[in-house]
Amino acid sequence: MLMARRQPGGFYTQAWEYDAPRETLADLEPDEVLVQYRHLVPGRRVLDLGMGDGDHALWLASLGYEVEGVDRHQRRLAHAEIRAMRLHLSIQTYLGDITELPIPPGAYDLVLLAAVLHFLRPSDHRRVAEQVMGGLRPGGLVYATALTTDDPGYSLVRQAGLPELEPNTFDLSDDDSLELLHFFPPGGLRNLFAGLEIVHYAEERYLRPDSDQGFNAAAVLLARRQAAA
Ligand SMILES: C[S@@+](CC[C@H](N)C(=O)[O-])C[C@H]1O[C@@H](n2cnc3c(N)ncnc32)[C@H](O)[C@@H]1O
Repeated sequence: MLMARRQPGGFYTQAWEYDAPRETLADLEPDEVLVQYRHLVPGRRVLDLGMGDGDHALWLASLGYEVEGVDRHQRRLAHAEIRAMRLHLSIQTYLGDITELPIPPGAYDLVLLAAVLHFLRPSDHRRVAEQVMGGLRPGGLVYATALTTDDPGYSLVRQAGLPELEPNTFDLSDDDSLELLHFFPPGGLRNLFAGLEIVHYAEERYLRPDSDQGFNAAAVLLARRQAAA
């Protein structure tokens, strides 16, 4: 079923410009599930992995959270910083690959993995998930979204015969570089965080009128580390 609401995250690379029209705090559009469950975040420390242009990081910073964001693209981080400056918000940004991060144990109240896990190899998913789960404080939450095999892109890359590097994982680059896209099978994202209490999990189609196929299909997960007894 198509859901007539904002899709979680920007699943594919978005274009942006430094001189985009000035935005205000009201223009920030966080994913609905985060808005709905924000009251469950037990404290103020947030880590945004694959922060991109900072949509979630900035929204959370505007609500008083202490946000650290990581991305492997300097351009993205620079854009997030410029947006923060314009909105008079404070965020900490770090250039890095989230598959190589040591996350401090028990440090965060919320870790975001919004629209980023599908850019990683499945062989990296488990390690990243373990780091993230270990990085949560008791009662802390992880929010993750990722493309699924129901996404139209999945049949397109299969039909195109793109190299499949690992199961459901394709190389989209047309040169010597590597541009990975993985599509999670049903239940795949939930299984990755099986050690946590599932607060919300859904696999749905989200309207995307600006794309050729008109929708994306994604899994959306919010899960919680057990609070200390
Ligand atoms: C589609 S954007 C999502 C941005 C943001 N999380 C959101 O929901 O709007 C994916 C981001 O993940 C980043 N990314 C992908 N793989 C990464 C990796 N291995 N380490 C760090 N960042 C990564 C990309 O550079 C890009 O900025």
